[in-house]
Amino acid sequence: MNGVPKDTLTVIDHRTGRQYEIPVQDGAIRAVDLRQIKVSADGGDPGLMTYDPGYVNTASCRSAISFIDGEKGILRYRGYPIEQLAERSTFLETAYLLLHGELPSPAELDSWVRNITHHTIIHENIKKFIDGFHHDAHPMGMFVSTVAALSTFYPEAKQIQDETSRRNQIFRLIAKTPTLAAFAYRHSVGMPYAYPDNDLSYAGNFLNMMSKATEVKYTPNKTLERALDVLFILHADHEQNCSSSAMRGVGSSHADPYSAMAAAAAALYGPLHGGANEEVVRMLREIGSTDRIPGYIDRVKRGEFRLMGFGHRIYKNYDPRATIIKRVAEEVFDVTGKNPLIDIAVELERIALNDDYFVTRKLYPNVDFYSGIIYEAMRFPLDMFPVLFAMGRTPGWLAQWQEMLLDREQKIARPRQIYIGPPARDYVPIEERGGR
Ligand code: CMC
Repeated sequence: MNGVPKDTLTVIDHRTGRQYEIPVQDGAIRAVDLRQIKVSADGGDPGLMTYDPGYVNTASCRSAISFIDGEKGILRYRGYPIEQLAERSTFLETAYLLLHGELPSPAELDSWVRNITHHTIIHENIKKFIDGFHHDAHPMGMFVSTVAALSTFYPEAKQIQDETSRRNQIFRLIAKTPTLAAFAYRHSVGMPYAYPDNDLSYAGNFLNMMSKATEVKYTPNKTLERALDVLFILHADHEQNCSSSAMRGVGSSHADPYSAMAAAAAALYGPLHGGANEEVVRMLREIGSTDRIPGYIDRVKRGEFRLMGFGHRIYKNYDPRATIIKRVAEEVFDVTGKNPLIDIAVELERIALNDDYFVTRKLYPNVDFYSGIIYEAMRFPLDMFPVLFAMGRTPGWLAQWQEMLLDREQKIARPRQIYIGPPARDYVPIEERGGR
């Protein structure tokens, strides 16, 4: 069309016959540009909106943290392929990368690890309210509550515009989540809390706080320590998922990062998100043997329930994290012995990936399909699985939160709605309402 700039979208409103040129940038139009499209010029017409339940096709931010190509099964953190990070990086180095945008120099990594390591202790009072939970409280409930409670110990965390304060809370949150997670676990099994050992790595110390019994010094198994570190790397960020959106949404009201992260962890708890790893193991146990898989798949296809650990909003190909996890599983089984559930999982995957129902809907195993089997082999109780996911995701949540705060375009999250309720009507006194 003559004279029309190339990077625009021409919209013709057939209600009015008017035509609009909407700029297109980075493959998106700005929803507010649609506001000018009105039927009536009087002030009562708010203009055109978009309707997108579940934000299936709405970008809520511009982000430089993680990149996913769901069709090709690609995941990168700050441009680095997840496969290379899982192979060559450590969780704390990856956390630095997510939060700072670049890999650290040796001196930067040293200082980063030292700072996180020296914030692992939690205030003694936190033990008291963990003690207050019932013995069978779900560790994720304890985790969400204790993360939120940390805000009361660090009131300066409210200074979210202050870079030093932000940095301190980031150290604390990454450092203290393993301690909170392990203490929640020890409470649920009635064991005394094991304090952090700052000589150990991040994952090694977590294993120490989970498993230490009467020995003076706990020595983690190197293979299991590395496997856990890799699992944390794989979970560290995943663009605008439900929990990261919760982190940004709550953070956008300028709540402190502990409160925002408690909300993110709560979002992760649900079985459609981070709670899926727990559900996968329950499902595999329920299936029980490979000969019962076809019957189970039939019930999934009839819509009775979903195949847990399958499907993803973005991945329409194999989740690259699931590929890495499958390999890690083999290494873990060399130490722990094979988890018999792996045979059911592999066969379930094989049958599903050859079934039209899953093929046509592009449903592949996601990160949660195999991670639970590894956690189980490592003797983590089932209800700790989402907590392990939350620990890994912590740097990602914080990177998303920080990016949101520093983004001049961001505002308090406040979606629109399409009102479908009754029109204005007068209040009816109770004695005039009749029986219903
Ligand atoms: N089992 C059976 N059918 C499925 C599944 C599944 N796991 N996932 C999607 N479908 C079907 C769904 O019924 C629908 O079919 P139809 O078009 O006939 O109605 C179609 O596939 C599209 O599903 P959707 O619900 O529109 O997809 P979504 O993008 O809204 O949901 C999901 C994504 C991850 C919530 C979903 O795939 C699911 O519930 N999976 C099981 C739970 C799970 O494994 N969650 C972990 C996700 S990965 C880690 C994380 O982010 O936490």
